[in-house]
Amino acid sequence: MDSGVGGLSVFREIRALLPRERYLYYADNAHCPYGEKSPEFIRERLRFITRFFLERGAQAVVLACNTATSAAIATLRSNYDIPFVGMEPAVKPAALNTRSGVIGVLATAGTLRGGKYQSVKANYAEGVQVIERVGEGFVELVERGIADGPVAEQTVRASLAPLLDAGADAVVLGCTHYPFLLETLRKVASDLGKPDTVFIDPAPAVARRLQQVLREQGIAEEDPRPGTEYFSSGPGETLRKMAASIE
Ligand code: DGL
Repeated sequence: MDSGVGGLSVFREIRALLPRERYLYYADNAHCPYGEKSPEFIRERLRFITRFFLERGAQAVVLACNTATSAAIATLRSNYDIPFVGMEPAVKPAALNTRSGVIGVLATAGTLRGGKYQSVKANYAEGVQVIERVGEGFVELVERGIADGPVAEQTVRASLAPLLDAGADAVVLGCTHYPFLLETLRKVASDLGKPDTVFIDPAPAVARRLQQVLREQGIAEEDPRPGTEYFSSGPGETLRKMAASIE
């Protein structure tokens, strides 16, 4: 699940690693963006979405959304008896990658405020300077199916430039919508004279974690009816287009 199409950046990695599974993808786009919503509201939505999945036979749930993970994964784990896999902002690989000693984190306001991110930062960013910014307008762009062009570049530049100006050479993509803007992020970094900036997407690590969890729990990695069904709480147009683009 995700608040919208962002989770597809995680789903494409999951399906590449586990191609024989049966998947249900839920885009809660009637309530997108989650970034500014209260944790209580997000937890309520996640209870609804979890029940939706359980009614259709789901055996594990991936919160392909950093904001939802931050607000709801602990409650879900204590209320439901199936495994939940969530997102973790990739501060650790960024701290290992930086040569300048400065890393940037792009995420939603909810993720940056959340306890999960704060503890990851405390554990892995020792001795490294961390500069944070909300990717203002990034989620809205991706939800409209816009990944490049002048408007995307202008939007990306406004949040990325302060990180690069502060010396960040590794930038964490702490929201699952942001990897869809990767080409534009790279172009803007180049235009700003920082073509070597490394952007870190945690999706491949989340896919490996899911595989490990399924193995530990003895959940089969092959389904007699492999495939994907897509659901959304709002209009499905961008979801349909982007789902086709990751096929
Ligand atoms: N894709 C989401 C995330 O990873 C949520 C974006 C939003 O709805 O604000 O945080």
